[in-house]
Amino acid sequence: MITQQLLMDIRKQFPALMQTDDAGNVPIYFDGPGGSQVPHCVMQAMVAYLCLGNSNMGGYNQASVRTMAVNDLARQQARVWLGGGTKAQIVFGQNATSLMFMISRVIARTWQAGDNIVLSSLDHYSHVSSWQQAADDAGVEVRMIPLNDTLNDLDYQAAEELIDGRTRLVAITAASNLIGTMTDIARISQMAKAVGALLSIDAVHAAVHIASEFEAWGADLLFASAYKIGGPHLGMMFAKHALLTQLRPYKVEPATNVVPMSYEQGTQSFESQAGFVAMMRYWSALGLDDGLPSFDEVGTQSQYDLTTTSRQKTYHKVMAYEQTQSQYLLEKFKQRPFLQLYGKQSASNRTPTFAFNVIKAGVIQDGAKLSQWLAGYNIALGFGNFYAKNLSERLADTGTVLRLGCLHYTTFAEIDRLFELIDQAVCEMYQITLP
Ligand SMILES: Cc1ncc(COP(=O)(O)O)c(C=O)c1O
Repeated sequence: MITQQLLMDIRKQFPALMQTDDAGNVPIYFDGPGGSQVPHCVMQAMVAYLCLGNSNMGGYNQASVRTMAVNDLARQQARVWLGGGTKAQIVFGQNATSLMFMISRVIARTWQAGDNIVLSSLDHYSHVSSWQQAADDAGVEVRMIPLNDTLNDLDYQAAEELIDGRTRLVAITAASNLIGTMTDIARISQMAKAVGALLSIDAVHAAVHIASEFEAWGADLLFASAYKIGGPHLGMMFAKHALLTQLRPYKVEPATNVVPMSYEQGTQSFESQAGFVAMMRYWSALGLDDGLPSFDEVGTQSQYDLTTTSRQKTYHKVMAYEQTQSQYLLEKFKQRPFLQLYGKQSASNRTPTFAFNVIKAGVIQDGAKLSQWLAGYNIALGFGNFYAKNLSERLADTGTVLRLGCLHYTTFAEIDRLFELIDQAVCEMYQITLP
């Protein structure tokens, strides 16, 4: 359980949560889906890597040997984090998007006229445009799984009809970065496997909220980003080993042909990989029965390496806490008819990520104004389409929403403060009378 004491210990690990603005406002971050704050141990690990000696891989000198050890451990921790496999299946990159564009081009080399690929209307567009543009180049048909009638999930029945014997790839998100819906991956996976199509899962939003299960989901590809879970800006792709060995990556000729490095373009950010390892240790320690050790201990000690067991314990804790956040938030929305909440109206099978708009006399009000107004109080609550283009356009005729996302360090007091201020703002800015 994330107790009040543990929550206080957790928050102490994140220096950014204490950085007041000029007016003395303590920051409150509801923009976790856009990127998490970072625990001290991650920063320490990055600084330590650079202080001890920066180097490239493949040398005999001490710094190079240390770099290779960091790289190896980061790969090993990534595979544990994302659910199975071996470290040879992890490809690092700058972010998830660039890895999606890289691999879509490589895989599209194998497509032929008459093939099709099936993408999702719920997804962030990095997992749409990358595949769509590769398909356009290869002259392959793109089919979109539509949203269901209530616009809170995919239409799985329609997916069955779209996926056929010429489908080469099905790409869906594990959870919506806009409305938090966790998709029915098992169902889509079954459909893809039945016709021999590859399954690509975007776990970038999901992976800080639910355990990603690369193997159990039957994924061929899975994408995640460390900066969504408190790590540095580092992307990763988990891929079936056989797929990596069969495909022919675009690469610099003298660069290694050994998988998975042959898919990594240019020199990687080793300091980010060091930070990621520390983040995995933090994540592992979060699941400990007797609470979180101090950050000095967590980041540097291999006893805290993420294991299958510690991963399970941490997600168990985090999911239970986030479910109470979702329930609390749903009540807040219910009490406010001037806020139109989109997506699921229940706390099950969702992340604590909510999309809404302010409504007056049936008309959507300018959410940018509210986002800006809240920023004056040092509160981060984003506004836009968050690259979930199809979904945001279906939800609101403006194509834009306000997005409220909680993470495991978000407190109920922060949620209360946000809604107090929203109430004040809607009266002052939109002249809405509170019920
Ligand atoms: C669901 C989802 N997919 C993909 C991305 C893109 O990830 P990255 O910023 O690592 O390229 C994001 C980023 O917000 C996301 O939320």
